[in-house]
Amino acid sequence: MIRFRHASISEKYKSYEWLCLSDTAQMHMGNPDYPNSPIPDWSEFKEDFEDFYYLEETRKKGSVMIINNDMEEIGCLCYACFHLKPQAAELDIWLKSKEYCGKGYGTNALINLCEYLEAVYNIKNFIIRPSVRNTRAIRAYEKAGFKKVEKDERQKTINDYLIPEYISEYGDGDYGFEDTEVLIKTTE
Ligand SMILES: CC(C)(COP(=O)(O)OP(=O)(O)OC[C@H]1O[C@@H](n2cnc3c(N)ncnc32)[C@H](O)[C@@H]1OP(=O)(O)O)[C@@H](O)C(=O)NCCC(=O)NCCS
Repeated sequence: MIRFRHASISEKYKSYEWLCLSDTAQMHMGNPDYPNSPIPDWSEFKEDFEDFYYLEETRKKGSVMIINNDMEEIGCLCYACFHLKPQAAELDIWLKSKEYCGKGYGTNALINLCEYLEAVYNIKNFIIRPSVRNTRAIRAYEKAGFKKVEKDERQKTINDYLIPEYISEYGDGDYGFEDTEVLIKTTE
């Protein structure tokens, strides 16, 4: 059974450790496989994940969440809406150790997060943007109901989801336009 809850500001460093200092970090960032997306240090993480991700009053903009598998905390979910048009959220996920990967936890957490965001914030359109090389993540997202956008449709999808003023900063995704897969899921 997978559960999750919003992280508090006192858990910001923990979520950084799980993302950047864990043995899962190199599965999606840094050398050798992701040289264009270096692993952030603590000061870079603090800028990328501004405090609003950890505050109750700004949960409409986005939030980092702690995933629990009934036994222990196993990683983080994140959603962000501030840069997107209404009823849309961009999702992210990282488990804190390889020992928790490949057991269905990530897929399950994402399915539950989409249901939660629809129930609480009426969000019906979801986007997630891993590296094209992160086959494990892509497989998990497809199992969670996401569909890959064809390469020649990616820009249109970005334009459909993002508020125009954010396209220059966030349009290409973390790995650059060519290397970022775009997957979407809609409940409408
Ligand atoms: C991505 C992640 C959240 C997925 O969660 P998970 O619990 O490991 O995923 P699941 O177990 O539900 O599914 C993984 C699927 O990938 C498959 N898989 C595992 N290793 C793989 C590989 N090297 N290549 C391709 N597929 C792979 C598994 O077989 C499984 O598919 P199946 O059920 O059809 O057999 C988790 O692996 C993780 O935290 N990875 C490191 C961080 C990361 O990459 N985050 C994504 C950033 S966009």
